[in-house]
Amino acid sequence: MALVVRPRVPLALWMLVLVRSSLEAADGGGWRQTWPGTDVALVEERCTVERRSDLTYTEFIQHYAFLRPVILQGLTDNSKFRSLCSRESLLTTFGDNVVRLSTANTYSYQKVDLPFQQYVEQLLYPQDPASLGNDTLYFFGDNNFTEWASLFRHYSPPPFHLLGTTAAYSFGIAGAGSGVPFHWHGPGFSEVIYGRKHWFLYPPEKIPKFHPNKTTLTWLRDTYPALAPSEKPLECTIEAGEVLYFPDRWWHATLNLDTSVFISTFLG
Ligand SMILES: *[C@@H]1O[C@H](CO)[C@@H](O)[C@H](O)[C@H]1NC(C)=O
Ligand SMILES: *[C@@H]1O[C@H](CO)[C@@H](O)[C@H](O)[C@H]1NC(C)=O
Ligand SMILES: *[C@@H]1O[C@H](CO)[C@@H](O)[C@H](O)[C@H]1NC(C)=O
Repeated sequence: MALVVRPRVPLALWMLVLVRSSLEAADGGGWRQTWPGTDVALVEERCTVERRSDLTYTEFIQHYAFLRPVILQGLTDNSKFRSLCSRESLLTTFGDNVVRLSTANTYSYQKVDLPFQQYVEQLLYPQDPASLGNDTLYFFGDNNFTEWASLFRHYSPPPFHLLGTTAAYSFGIAGAGSGVPFHWHGPGFSEVIYGRKHWFLYPPEKIPKFHPNKTTLTWLRDTYPALAPSEKPLECTIEAGEVLYFPDRWWHATLNLDTSVFISTFLG
């Protein structure tokens, strides 16, 4: 009997690991944190950006690359990268690494260096609706690709290139309710790895009214409701595994509906 029973132990352990990792993916990699925001469900439902699961490169170039944002589904399989981005995995591998944080306002000049574990355990809480963007520290960009190479080599970016540009990654993890208010830069992609991230977008010529030091949340509560239909931005919630494409110089503001792990590919 002992011979039959003994092999079951490692099998049981192995199954525990499997069940646990699938639970981690389902519950957001151990990152999910409820946000005591009132209208998350209402925000999540609004979507005026096209979702495409079958887009060819030719269609991308003809219909979106220089014209409008689009949400891409099913282009790449980043399940390995996603598993490496669980809270436990990142803390185990990179907890002691010093990361550079930026303030979450439109023009972020202030930078703060902190061990990654300290950021995750002490600063990654849901956004206080009363705080200012320039008082909120945010981990996005300024990544050390030497130290984090073992993670980034597992990321597959969207396979669509724009002539004359090179791709550069920016990786981030941000608290529920946080988000960078309106700003613009070159074209690129932003993929959500865990959590949900809502985007507001305006074409370059349509300059939104916003205070550069206030949060996206404040803009959503104070300014958005009074906008005439013609003044409303394009918007949508990007779910884990989806990729938003934003064209050159489009204004955008983001709002993390959960603790979000995300990676952008900027085409500079
Ligand atoms: C944040 O911005 C507000 C309003 O623009 C300003 O009064 C405040 O001094 C700024 N805070 C910091 C820490 O710079
Ligand atoms: C925003 O905050 C920064 C410092 O964080 C300050 O230098 C700047 O003047 C503020 N901008 C406005 C428009 O208040
Ligand atoms: C990245 O990390 C390496 C190894 O710790 C360090 O030598 C290098 O200076 C860092 N680069 C930047 C831009 O901080």
